[in-house]
Amino acid sequence: MAQANRPLLTLASLTLAGGLRYPSALGHLVRTAAVSAYLANVLELADAEQQQIYCVAPVHDVGKLGIPDAVLLKPAALTEDEHDIMRRHSSIGADLLAGSPEPVLQLAASVARHHHEHFDGSGYPAGLAGEAVPLAARIVAVADAFDAMMEPRVYRKGMKEHDALGALAERSGIYFDPSLVDVFLRHVPGVRRARAATDALLAKYGEVSAVGRFFGGPEPVPAFFRHLQALV
Ligand SMILES: [Fe+2]
Ligand SMILES: [Fe+2]
Repeated sequence: MAQANRPLLTLASLTLAGGLRYPSALGHLVRTAAVSAYLANVLELADAEQQQIYCVAPVHDVGKLGIPDAVLLKPAALTEDEHDIMRRHSSIGADLLAGSPEPVLQLAASVARHHHEHFDGSGYPAGLAGEAVPLAARIVAVADAFDAMMEPRVYRKGMKEHDALGALAERSGIYFDPSLVDVFLRHVPGVRRARAATDALLAKYGEVSAVGRFFGGPEPVPAFFRHLQALV
């Protein structure tokens, strides 16, 4: 892989490490990234910015590597104390990624740190509000929450799409940037296509090779990123 792509190798490795930490994690990470990149494209962000969001979104939960099994793998709803432990994943992930001079790793650290901030300032770890939350983290927050609601847990079924969309709408302006919820709700067919394309990539290549293809190997721009851009 070319010298310039070294940060992407780091992100690919951390994606795999995080994705192997608990069952179904990898699908969540790459679907969240695909939907984040799709939204970034709908928002008409600069191509380089879209690519950065695509590459950093899969490591948003990498701090879960540092959460004990008793909490991370608990087959039941968490107690408030356990939630406090779980909430540490955003700072752990940011600390793990911090300190690089590479802009894409700095963005990855920022997204890991701030993807659970809420638009009204009630989130964690910093309690940032509104546009003080970096845009990439606001985008990943919406894509992340939607995917998490759709996924089944041992103690609950996955939500139906209609209900998950309703939950996003209800929390618009409270948890989530209302302009991003608006974009999400106006582009549901595209979101569905981005999710389906990611699930197809995972099913076709298996988790390890799918992550390699997601990050593009030696290609300067991953083919799968261009594929998502074509979904708009
Ligand atoms: Fe998270
Ligand atoms: Fe997540």
